[in-house]
This record gives sequence, C-alpha cells and structure tokens, in this order.
Amino acid sequence: MAHQSTLIADDIDAYLKAHEVKSLLRFLTCGSVDDGKSTLIGRLLYDSKMIFEDQLAALEADSRRVGTQGGEIDFALLVDGLAAEREQGITIDVAYRFFSTDRRKFIVADTPGHEQYTRNMVTGASTADAAVILIDARKGVLTQTRRHSFLVSLLGIRHVVLAINKMDLVGWSQETFDRIVADYRLFADKIGIHHFTAIPMSALRGDNITEASDHSPWYEGPALLRWLEEAPVEDDLREKPFRMPVQWVNRPNLDFRGFAGFIAAGAVRPGDRVKVLPSGRETVVDRIVTKGGDLPRAVAGQSITLTLRDEIDVSRGDVLAAAGEPPGVADQFETTLVWFDDEPMLPGRPYLMKLAARTVSAQLTEPKYKINVNTLEHLAATRLTLNEIGVCNLLLDAPIAFDPYVDTKDLGGFILVDRISNRTVGAGLIHFALRRSQNIHWQALDVAKPARAAQKGQKPRMVWLTGLSGAGKSTIANLLEKRLHAAGRHTYLLDGDNVRHGLNKDLGFTEEDRIENIRRVAEVGRLMVDAGLIVLVSFISPFRAERRMARDLMDSGEFVEVFIDTPLAEAERRDVKGLYKKARAGELKNFTGIDSPYEAPEHPEIRIDTTRLTAEEAAEQIFAALES
Ligand code: ADX
Repeated sequence: MAHQSTLIADDIDAYLKAHEVKSLLRFLTCGSVDDGKSTLIGRLLYDSKMIFEDQLAALEADSRRVGTQGGEIDFALLVDGLAAEREQGITIDVAYRFFSTDRRKFIVADTPGHEQYTRNMVTGASTADAAVILIDARKGVLTQTRRHSFLVSLLGIRHVVLAINKMDLVGWSQETFDRIVADYRLFADKIGIHHFTAIPMSALRGDNITEASDHSPWYEGPALLRWLEEAPVEDDLREKPFRMPVQWVNRPNLDFRGFAGFIAAGAVRPGDRVKVLPSGRETVVDRIVTKGGDLPRAVAGQSITLTLRDEIDVSRGDVLAAAGEPPGVADQFETTLVWFDDEPMLPGRPYLMKLAARTVSAQLTEPKYKINVNTLEHLAATRLTLNEIGVCNLLLDAPIAFDPYVDTKDLGGFILVDRISNRTVGAGLIHFALRRSQNIHWQALDVAKPARAAQKGQKPRMVWLTGLSGAGKSTIANLLEKRLHAAGRHTYLLDGDNVRHGLNKDLGFTEEDRIENIRRVAEVGRLMVDAGLIVLVSFISPFRAERRMARDLMDSGEFVEVFIDTPLAEAERRDVKGLYKKARAGELKNFTGIDSPYEAPEHPEIRIDTTRLTAEEAAEQIFAALES
C-alpha cells in the first residue's frame, strides 16, 4: 500500500495523471464513536497512506501517552483529534475526508455528534453513493442502527455495507456474525434495503479492512476497501434529462448574459432546446462557457455558465431543463420530512424552503403520520419534534420547478429554515405534487383593490394590535375604530374574543391552534383590505413568526404593527376578566404570560406604553399616525 508515497516521489506527473482518471466514490459512515467509527476512518486513512508523516509522529506519541491501545497506534485519536480541532473553529457539521488507493478516490462524509446526528447524516447522505453502517459485534442491531439505516434508505443510497466491527472481542464467532446479519436483514427488507454486504472486521486490528483476515476463514466476501473500490458509482445521473438550477446570472457587460449553475442531472450541448422553469419559456443553448474555454458538452456534476440564443427572462433560482422532458411545476406537495430542531415543527407556521437555488416561503400541514423508526409503525401526530420523521404536505407561496426525490435528488430534496432564527430546522423529500393545487387557478377580476380604495377615498390598511391578555388591545381598538369612523373612514374590527365565537370556535390555545387562529384572521383581514377597508386586528398573537406571516401577506406599507405594551404584572393586577387568577390557580392551561410564551415585537411601527397613556390618548396617537 505504498503507492502514494513512492509514486509521488518517483514521478509526480504520473501520480497526478493516474489520479485524474480514477473514479470517485462518495460514502458515508454511520454509527457512533463507540462502534469504532473513528478507528475505522483512521485505519482507512492510515492504510491508504493519507496520513502525513508529522501527523503520524504525533499520533504515535499520543497513542503512547494516552495508552488505550497498549503502545499500539490508536486511530481514534487521529480522527477525534481532528474533530476537536474542528469544533473549535467555525462549525462545519460534516467533515469530508479524502483518501485514495491505486484504483479509486474516496470522499468519506464523517458525521460526528450525537444529538445533531440526524441533521449531519442527512447533510452527508445527500451526496453519498454508498453507506457503511457500523455495528458493534457485542451489541448487535440497535435503535441507532435502525434509525441510520432508515435514513440511508430514505435518502436513496443504494449501496450498503454492514460493517460488523470488534469481531475480535467476540472471538471471531461466525454464529454471532450470522445472527446479527439475519437480524439486520429482517429490518432492512422492510425499509427497502434488499441488498447489503455484511463484513466481519476489526478496525482496530486491521482485519478485513484492506486484506482478507486469517481470523475469519469462514468469510468469503471482500475486505472493506476492496468493496469500496468496486462499488458501482452513480454515473447514470448523466443519462437522466438535463437539469440545471440557475445559481447566478452573470452579466458583466451588455454583450454577455450567462446563467451559471451546477448541472444536477443529464448533459447539455450547444444547440440543445431548453425550457426555463417555472415560466415555461423555451430557447436554445448557445454556448457552454467555462474558465478554461467553451465546451462541446457538459454533464451532471459540472459547474458551468450557459448562454442562450434568445433574450428571455431567466433569474436566479429558475431551472434550465431539457425542453422535451421538463420537471414539474407546482406549489403543493406530499413530502417526507425529517425534523432536526429543538423547537418542534408546527403546522401552519411559515418557514423558508430552499430547494436547489430557489428559496420560497412555505407552510406544512399537520403530519399525516409520523414513523416509528424501530417498528416502522405509522403514528398519529399533530407536530414533529427533534429527530422525528413524518409525512406532511408542503404548501408554498409560489410555484417551483421540481422532480420527485427518487428521480433527481437535487430537484426533489429541500431544507427548511426558521425565518426568525435562520436555523436549518428540517429537511424533506418530495414524493409528488398535489393535483388539487394544479386544478385551481387565479381568476382575474376587473374591479381591484385600488378601485375600491379610491371609491372610499382611503388607503386600505391592516392595523395589527398585539399584546398580552388584558393589555388593553380591545379597548384601544374600539376607541380607534370610533375615531376613524367619525372621520369618515370605512373600517372593520376583528377582535380575538369575538372571532373565536364564530369562524374560529373550533380552536383552543395550544401552539398549533393559536397559529391557525392567526393564519385565518390574517387571511380574512387580507380579504377585507382587498375590499378597501381599514382593518383593525386585536389578537394576542403571541408569536413573532405568525405576525410576520400576516405582514408578508400584505403589500408594503399596508401592515401597521401596534404593540400594546403592558407589563405582565400590570395586566395581571388589572385582571379584568379574572383569567390570570384562574391561570395562577391552575384552572386555565396555556395562558399567555403564565404557562404559554408571549414574544414581544422587536420593531413594531407603533408602540403604546399603557402605563403612561390612557386608552383615549393611545387611540388618538394611532389615529394620528395613520392619518399622517
Ligand atoms: S391568540 O393567542 O390566539 O391570539 P386570541 O387573541 O385569539 O389569542 O384570544 C385571546 C382571548 O381569549 C384572551 O383575551 C382571553 O380573553 C381568552 N383566553 C381564554 N383562554 C386563554 C388562554 N389560555 N390564553 C390566552 N387567552 C385566553
């Protein structure tokens, strides 16, 4: 295995050339550090001579010092050492390590971390061709193994190795090995992993890693590295219809307009007819431009810039695709969702969805079911929490180009980002578009908002009052409406208590119900604004995300957020409806400010301090602001 060092030293050109033509296998390792994952990766790096001499010297010294392996090299120290370094620097969730043998290059996605595991694994798995699932021979198939295998299958990785490690600690017992394999096969079959290669090994001792081991004469399969060298790489991606999400429109001067992106599937040549999605316009590829000059052809995996024959509208986030086999365009989908945030996934809450180069505002429906990864049972659920996997509908604010995940990973896999914290909170896979959305069209109407507003001689608005129960919202809103009415304005007041007697009488005060409460009232308010009215909304509306959603429904300048700022102690002291007393006595659950949160606005258009202003003064101040 001295190929690296000798060839580099003897003939660097030959070395580089050999390297260029070798195929590349991307694979993922699943398992915890205790299963021997770090040792295994360290061993692969070591045996393929990818550890630099200085690292090796340090490793030998560390191994002697720490002494877990009785003077022998402890490979885990190498990988864990790198991990510790990594954690101190900028956070990279997945470490990609490179190594190579005479026959192939490898990128292994090492996904460390325990709680964050699901997130890391999904990130690492999205580009992997193969997965190595590690099992500790003493422990057999664990919940972790099942969870990782489920994700591997879900993410469409078709080549799987079951690495049954630490065989030396079970005396190389064939019976133990067979039992674990049989156990695993039962589960694997159910999740669609019909083929896998089980290898008995000891990563620590190097058995069945690069060479067949004398300890397992009963095992006739390949050593791990042989398997990795021979696993088929997914080059059929090139045979699929052409797909290129546009990452950037390159317009350095008036004479050049290029569309830069990464080819997600298929191949492209100058002269090919392409469709731009979601708009559906067609044109012909003119040139394939790269730094190194124009290309006659480009394939999946390459980053290129295309120029087009016609001056048609193409923006960042659009997809260029084979005109004869375009992807679908839709705004509602059935998806499988993997949740990896501490905050639960709440149906109706607005998130940002990123798919390929496109970012769109999105909402999820209540899960149809969530999946118990141990038993594969489908369970009823109203939300998804950390590490849960479920099937939900995804509703977007705008149509996007997509393929089912099974057809094109890059056009069917997406992530969800929290709009307030900017955290990546989940990932999902598109199954199919919901037909219902495709059968509903926008009806163009001739009398529109401006005409209705002009007739009333006013600027339609949504004045959104938020604050604790008992803050004074309803009192102030009522006075404000009287004031507007007296000034000849056309208004309507939507009040929480009142709307909850009718339209929203099916809703309670759980987070889910409050989100739905606000969603409905925001939509109703929007219709009223469209009718030309000045709409006053008086709801606790405790969550920033939903107030933001209401704001985003409106045109700019139409949404006026008014924070009725009354400290909790003061609202509780007033306790007009006696509800705080009940909540304190435990007779009323989920009461805002007591056992349900209130997220104060950060940048309201108007803030009313009710400890300084009377309700009349507050109403007058809002009125003045609206009229100015
Ligand atoms: S919101 O949180 O969903 O926006 P909304 O404004 O509709 O609340 O309704 C709040 C009113 O319902 C309060 O003014 C109060 O009178 C009543 N109420 C009953 N139970 C609760 C509760 N658990 N939390 C808050 N308000 C409650």
